[in-house]
Amino acid sequence: MNILKGGCIAIPLFLYQCRSVSPVTVSPLGAIIHPEANKPSQDKIDLGRTLFFDTRLSADNSISCASCHVPAFAFTDRKRVSNGVEGRMTTRNSPSILNAGYLKSVMFDAHLETLEMQVTVPIQEHVEMDITVVSLLERLRKIPEYQKAAKEIYDRDFDAWVLTRSIAAFERSLISDNSRFDQYMYGGDKSALTKSEKAGWKIFSEDLYCIKCHPAPHFTTYQAENNGLYMDYGEDKGRFRINHDTLDMGRFKVPSLRNVELTYPYMHDGSFSSLDDVIAHYSSGGEDHQNKSSIIKSFDLSEEEQIDLKNFLRALTDTSYMTGFR
Ligand code: HEC
Ligand code: HEC
Repeated sequence: MNILKGGCIAIPLFLYQCRSVSPVTVSPLGAIIHPEANKPSQDKIDLGRTLFFDTRLSADNSISCASCHVPAFAFTDRKRVSNGVEGRMTTRNSPSILNAGYLKSVMFDAHLETLEMQVTVPIQEHVEMDITVVSLLERLRKIPEYQKAAKEIYDRDFDAWVLTRSIAAFERSLISDNSRFDQYMYGGDKSALTKSEKAGWKIFSEDLYCIKCHPAPHFTTYQAENNGLYMDYGEDKGRFRINHDTLDMGRFKVPSLRNVELTYPYMHDGSFSSLDDVIAHYSSGGEDHQNKSSIIKSFDLSEEEQIDLKNFLRALTDTSYMTGFR
């Protein structure tokens, strides 16, 4: 333990305790900005967690948020695309919602502003939970525990406010910031990465151009970009579907690479099953789509360098968020 300036004691890793100040967690990711109208409390987070795992949020009581956002898979589902009610298929791959509290925009199209706004999207979506908010609220209000919690926490009947605030508060509590890379980079532990992982970080950040779109510590710019996945994006042209602006064709929100070891298959359509596929894509320079980012160019890596790069990406895994999950 180190005694720091200002009477703070550093407890590994990011927890600092200061005299006469309550414990503060200093994360390399910075502080989460909670909306004025949804300040977190443990009760809210607990209610949100229960709702997140409750299959009664879907038309036929078969699907919960956690069906597609599975804790053990960094809140993804290891499927190319996901299954909603009656086995209906989504068109996109489920993204991780770890560190969702830091998102500057929500969804692959980067078009929703808040987590609160996102909650009712999967609930009402035909291929996901397929139930109207009105009938869902009628259903949930009849469940005594939910109605009781709504009264106690929000002093109101169980309504859309309670539903969306609680789930969003739970999502903002899902933090993953203690990978071996974090220990190396921000925790001062120079031995936390192996030689190969350090070499991989250099390839990622200096030799290649990956950090231009996937910069540490978040490993995303949160912008929507075209990474040259296809010449013709077919049915799903990404952000184009929001404003029908041709400059948005093939642009998808840059995903964070934290826990990328766990979140396969990759890309908005789950078309790459392994990190080898991803590296092969970038090293080929991608497809020559008119909106492809000019940053992406072909490159050659030796077999050893490829292994180093993959090892680095795997050092971004942090499953400490699993404490408290099955
Ligand atoms: C049937 C599978 C499925 C279910 C059920 C589901 N999701 Fe998702 N979720 C997805 C997919 C697929 C996307 C990506 C959609 C897109 O970008 O168009 C997504 C996106 C998200 C995002 C945006 C993440 C980001 O990086 O922008 C959040 C947050 C989220 N879901 C939370 C939830 C919550 C909360 C529930 C329950 C109310 C839920 N999901 C239910 C599949 C699902
Ligand atoms: C111009 C911006 C840009 C650059 C540069 C870039 N990426 Fe990406 N990356 C993206 C976008 C956008 C996606 C998501 C595309 C999609 O969903 O179809 C993505 C997806 C990925 C994924 C899949 C993540 C997931 O969960 O699906 C990995 C892994 C990845 N990139 C690694 C890299 C590596 C390694 C490099 C350097 C060789 C790199 N990226 C350079 C924009 C970029």
